[in-house]
Amino acid sequence: MLDEPAVRKVDRSGAVEHLKSLPEQVVRGLRLGGELGPLAANRRVIVVGMGGSGIAGAILAAWLAVERGTPVMPVHDSRLPAWVGEGDLVVAVSYSGNTLETLAATREAMRRGCELVGISSGGTLRDLCLGRGLPFVPVPPGMMPRSALGYVFGGLAGLFDANEIAPEVRTAVEALREWGAKLTPKVPDAKNPAKKLAAKVKGRTPIIYGTPTYAPVARRWQTEFNENAKVLAWSSVVPEADHNELVGWAEDPAARRFAPILLRDPAESDFDRAMLDATRELIRPKVKVEEVRAEGPTLLARMLTTLQLGDWTSFYLAILRRVDPTPVAVIGKLKARLAKRS
Ligand code: F6R
Repeated sequence: MLDEPAVRKVDRSGAVEHLKSLPEQVVRGLRLGGELGPLAANRRVIVVGMGGSGIAGAILAAWLAVERGTPVMPVHDSRLPAWVGEGDLVVAVSYSGNTLETLAATREAMRRGCELVGISSGGTLRDLCLGRGLPFVPVPPGMMPRSALGYVFGGLAGLFDANEIAPEVRTAVEALREWGAKLTPKVPDAKNPAKKLAAKVKGRTPIIYGTPTYAPVARRWQTEFNENAKVLAWSSVVPEADHNELVGWAEDPAARRFAPILLRDPAESDFDRAMLDATRELIRPKVKVEEVRAEGPTLLARMLTTLQLGDWTSFYLAILRRVDPTPVAVIGKLKARLAKRS
């Protein structure tokens, strides 16, 4: 069903090659960002960006919040928090370089006298940075923003202390290479976790759960289901969701239409383990629950390989639904409407 010819037939725009390139994108991005030096060391960092670009900042922030003392705040909006000002580093990430929210936040950061770095493949963001002699990480053009996540994530990580962060990122890249090889169309359905999961969730609406550390990874799963497979999907964060959504799972007669997917980590705390096990058991009597168990030598490796599994799962769901994963026409329509206003 999901063999190579079937995949090729539906994946008319060639998303498969971008999925395969994720590890090498991170390597290249890390080098490009690193060339600017450790701009993000020892200060507050705010990463502004939307969608497939902005998620890179959220993932980096969630990881650094656990492993380092570095305060990084992702902002997915045109407004900056009132406390952002001189001495803070604002990193503007927009693959196209033309996203209105990101550009508005970038201009606001300039007005407030923040340090600024841009990451994009071109557009107004590049012109703004290069025109003012500001540091800029150029990522290769010609992709969909969400397919270039590795470049943006690597570029961002490269702005941090190379001695501390880069080795961790390289370890994660090794894991991405190893696990990514198990997810390609060549690997038959029965041995391919992404193909298996896509088949399991087909026909139901995925709702992906993660702890706060995994929340941006869960969000990436959601957005990849939305954009690649063209389905509604949502993500949510535990333990908070256990204090409200759980009631819906237990009592809503429509709950069976949804596919809860729990993202698990082998190093989760005793509390998280007990909480996630209880969540699964309390949902299960009525609804089939999928669990994804991250594997890998470090937290970052596990976060990124879990993300990679979600990317591939959404890709195969697109193939099963016979929709080309790449185009996202309605986002273009929205941007065109908003551009008319400015
Ligand atoms: C499209 C995608 C979108 C964009 C978002 C922001 O592939 O993933 O979520 O990332 O519309 O656009 P950029 O990334 O160009 O700033």
